[in-house]
Order: sequence, then C-alpha cells, then structure tokens
Amino acid sequence: MDIFERLRQNPGPLGQFADYGEGYYVFPQLKGEIGPEMEFQGKKVITWSINDYLGLANHPEVRKADADAAAQYGMAYPMGARAMSGQTDYHAQLEVELAEFVQKEAAYLMNFGYQGMVSTIDALVSKNDVIVYDIDSHACIVDGVRLHMGKRFTFQHNDMESLEKNLKRAQRITEQTGGGILVITEGVFGMRGMQGKLKEICDLKSTYDFRLLVDDAHGFGTLGQTGAGAGEEQGCQDQIDVYFSTFAKSMAGFGAFIAGDKDIIRVLKYNLRSQIFAKSLTMPMVIGGLKRLDLIRKNPELKNKLWSNVNKIQKGLKDRGFNLGDSNTCVTPIYLEGTPIEATVLAREMREVYGIFISVVVYPVIPKGMIIFRIIPTASHTDEHIEYTLNSFAEIKDKLAAGYYTKIAHDLDIDFTQY
Ligand SMILES: Cc1ncc(COP(=O)(O)O)c(C=O)c1O
Repeated sequence: MDIFERLRQNPGPLGQFADYGEGYYVFPQLKGEIGPEMEFQGKKVITWSINDYLGLANHPEVRKADADAAAQYGMAYPMGARAMSGQTDYHAQLEVELAEFVQKEAAYLMNFGYQGMVSTIDALVSKNDVIVYDIDSHACIVDGVRLHMGKRFTFQHNDMESLEKNLKRAQRITEQTGGGILVITEGVFGMRGMQGKLKEICDLKSTYDFRLLVDDAHGFGTLGQTGAGAGEEQGCQDQIDVYFSTFAKSMAGFGAFIAGDKDIIRVLKYNLRSQIFAKSLTMPMVIGGLKRLDLIRKNPELKNKLWSNVNKIQKGLKDRGFNLGDSNTCVTPIYLEGTPIEATVLAREMREVYGIFISVVVYPVIPKGMIIFRIIPTASHTDEHIEYTLNSFAEIKDKLAAGYYTKIAHDLDIDFTQY
C-alpha cells in the first residue's frame, strides 16, 4: 500500500480527531500573556492547564532577562552543537547552579526534555543491560526504551511487588550477560498526580543491584523543602543516580537537564546523541534560565503560594464530593464517570458557559468509562479563580448526574462510534 494512502486512511490516535476537534480540543489557541486568565476563541477564560507552576512565565524579571539576552545575543548564538562550537560560560554556569540546586555533583543541559530523555536512556545502557520501568511512564521514557537493544520489562504502576518480580527477572538475565539493571520512573506522574515511590525503590537497592533514573519534570520546583523535587520530598535524592527535569514546567521555558555524579555526567555529555548532533541552547534560554533558578532559590514564597492554592482547590473539591484519586502533588485530577462524548460536551460547556479552560483526559489514556479533568494550579491563581472554579464544578457534577450531558451528546450530530 502507498504510504500516503495508509496515512490518509489511518491518521493515528490523535489525528482521527482532526476533522472534528482541531482548533478547539486539539491545537486550541490560548492568547494573551501566560497566566491564570487568557483568551480562548475571543472569550476570557480561567486557565487550569498550564504547567507554569511558580508563575515565572510572566515574571517581570524573567521577561526582562529573556529580552535583554535576546537583544544582546539574538536567537542564534551560540551556533552549532555544544561539542563543536556551541559552548559558553553561561551554559557551564547554569549547569553548576542546577547541579547545586538538585543536590548533585554535576549537571548537563539538553535542548528539550523529550529528546534529552530518549538520549539519556540510549547513552546509559548497552545491549547486555536490562531496563525495568514503570508502565505509566511518559512517552519520552517509552521511546528511549524503544532504542534499547537488550531486554526491557515494565512493572505495574508504582507497584513495588511487581518491580521486585521484574528485578528478579532482570537479575537472571544480567547474571548471564554480565550487564547491569537500569530502573526508570517518574518523580510525579503528570496525568494522575501520584509521586513515584522513589524511597521504596531506593530501599530495594540494598537487595538488588541497579541504577535509578528519575524523570522529575513536575517535581522540580514544586516538591521538597528547597524545591529540588520528589527525591528531596521523600528523603532519597542522594540515591537517585540520574536526575532529569525539563524547563517546560516550573522553569517556564524550554530545554532540560540531567544531573548526577561528576564522572557519569561527563561520560553522558560525550554520548548524548540528541545533544552532540543538535544545536546548543540559545542564550535567552540559558541566561533566562539562570534568572529563573535565582528567583526559585530566593523566593520560597512562590512555592508556598503554589501549595496554598493546591491545598485550597484540592480540599474544596474533596469537600464537594469529588474523587481526586491518589494525587499527592500539585497535579489535580478530577475523576468523573462518563463516556468520551460526555467528556467532549463537558469540556465545551466548561469553556463556553463557565469560561474555564481545562484539559480533559479520556480512554485510552485512562480506563473506559472514566473522564479526568486535570487541574494544574499555579502560584498565580487567586482565591477568586479557585472559588469560582469550585462552584462551577459543583454545578456540572449535578448536571452530569442528572444525565444532562448525555442528552446533549445524543442531540449532537457527531458520529462518535468511530472514535
Ligand atoms: C514527565 C515529562 N517528561 C518529559 C517531558 C518532555 O519535556 P520537554 O517538553 O522539555 O520536551 C514532559 C513534558 O514537557 C513531561 O511531562
């Protein structure tokens, strides 16, 4: 079959929604300054779907640092990959400061978290090694594991019994190959908001020989006393062998980094193919990154405000009878029972009637019959935003229970049977 013909016939899990939902449910455009109030399709909405946890995206000092660096260096400098012609003192300085912040000896910058994680996994393992990773891992981990030439096993999400079973399987293999074991999990699972059980995983190190790689995209800046993440929160940061975070969340930018022992970071920096064969991070993001980190370090009140908002909205939702699952982080999932059609109708009503912009997650990301509305509180949300949103959710809950959205869904002229 012609490749293009196949693509036209099967546009993929997200592509199938293109005709119906593009511009609204997929690729929606939020306009205005990043913050808790933005514009969607000409209307003001309260945004609960942006990972600007600490509210740094529009912090005046951040905007100024980014703009000054762009004026001084442009968006090109330094040209080339770090290893070829893309090195600057600022890149090195940001690495030193990031390492110190996450309590590791050394760090290395990466252009994007996704590619960075793929390459980190690729650089860490050889074909004799075995990877054991949480089944709910982010796509960047899944895709990194796909490059691995040796064995890989998943363990059930956050299930230590399943992890141990798979460590035993891995051990039997490495005894024959002479390789090692790499365990990979996340500090915070971004869809449902559970922390990875890092402490319990680290405790298994006394029984099994393995190295631990943690994707702490949502934990960096939000968890732990100093904001060093889920490992600090659980008291085991020193046992995370390779720590990873993106700048796309608390750092409100783009880029990422890994951190760990000096000698290992040094080897990785010579072997991360996504960095060796790609252009260095631009100066606005590096100098802007230093400014963001400085603000995070010097203003613990940002994290305190974030958590005060998280606690208010999570308590408010629970008091109103909502099921938030097992979230023990800022990520606030609201579990409702319903079909993807009802979820679509609900999301539209949230935006059009209540002016609330929120992500909705349905099957196959979560089991059939469930809908998750995922709220991401930030330090910039106010009590008014929270109160208004809580009251709106209480109203839609009653309407959902009364079958209101099922009726609208049936009246809609959309053939959802194919989805
Ligand atoms: C858990 C997790 N890991 C990795 C990434 C990818 O990071 P980036 O956006 O920098 O590619 C994301 C999303 O940003 C994420 O949520």
